[in-house]
Amino acid sequence: MNQPVTARAHTNIALIKYWGKSDPELIIPQNSSLSLTLEPFYTDTTVTFSNQLTRDQVSIDGQQLTVAASQRVSQLLNLIRQQANQQNFAQVISINHVPTAAGLASSASGFAALAAAASKAAGLDLDRQALSRLARRGSGSATRSVYGGFVEWQKGHGDADSQAIPLQEKIDFDIQMIVIVLDPRPKKIASRAGMARVVATSPYYPAWPVAATKDLAAMKTAILKKDLNLIGQLAEANAMKMHATTLSATPPFTYFEPETLQAIDLIQGLRATGLSCYYTMDAGPNVKVICSAKETPAILARLRQHFPADHLLVAKPGPGIAYL
Ligand code: PMV
Repeated sequence: MNQPVTARAHTNIALIKYWGKSDPELIIPQNSSLSLTLEPFYTDTTVTFSNQLTRDQVSIDGQQLTVAASQRVSQLLNLIRQQANQQNFAQVISINHVPTAAGLASSASGFAALAAAASKAAGLDLDRQALSRLARRGSGSATRSVYGGFVEWQKGHGDADSQAIPLQEKIDFDIQMIVIVLDPRPKKIASRAGMARVVATSPYYPAWPVAATKDLAAMKTAILKKDLNLIGQLAEANAMKMHATTLSATPPFTYFEPETLQAIDLIQGLRATGLSCYYTMDAGPNVKVICSAKETPAILARLRQHFPADHLLVAKPGPGIAYL
């Protein structure tokens, strides 16, 4: 039996979204994206390769997964076994430190932690770029969770250069998020299926990578200027462009719930009172508010009039992958 290795990776929320693949097999995106890694939400994963095992054994939050449910994990382990010339199956124990019912996607932190723990346990010594490319094969957003702070996933041309780079691992100005948990249930249409449908059927999809590329360049300038309002405006507009592709798909769909629109309306109202707050959403109904730590108490006070206090989660920027 090999030594167990434990890695921690934090989740991230995109300010410029990854939406649509040009190569679904290798998970090469149609556009580059940019995210903020979050401090309070992370996954700890321990991997042990052992010649005593007859198949990969995966448990998440104490639940043993079936062979079918652990297929995506085993696919990533297969890649690692190939690279490391490792014959053994692995035991994978993963714990998500995302407050229960947060409804936040754990695939970013989950696959980043798995890539880090499993590659090291298999005897590979990958640098962060290689880790980022490996995490990408598990889930697109995991590509960015290798680094802390602001991170850019450069779409590249193929497997060899589609990877994340850190833009600012330690952020030197006041920015954070408030997650409004509206619906903790698993999403109705997984991001994978949603992306595939919009790429194949939305007449607006071709405009998306063009717009996202422009938005990304503007976002990098806004970050350099430490301009919270500009960052928020760009993130909000970019998220809405992404969601417009779902409404225009065949058959059409949306990740919004009625409460999502209520939250949007509320945030716009808060902004009209002079508070700097902006919204973004991923492939689910929950709303993430981009704001400063300084104004968080005032924003929280207003949000608490509409949402239960335990559905409002404050998240500071967080670090990249670490071995425990
Ligand atoms: O990594 P995936 O396959 O769950 O895709 C994530 C896609 C979005 O969350 C909607 C956007 C993003 O860039 O994270």
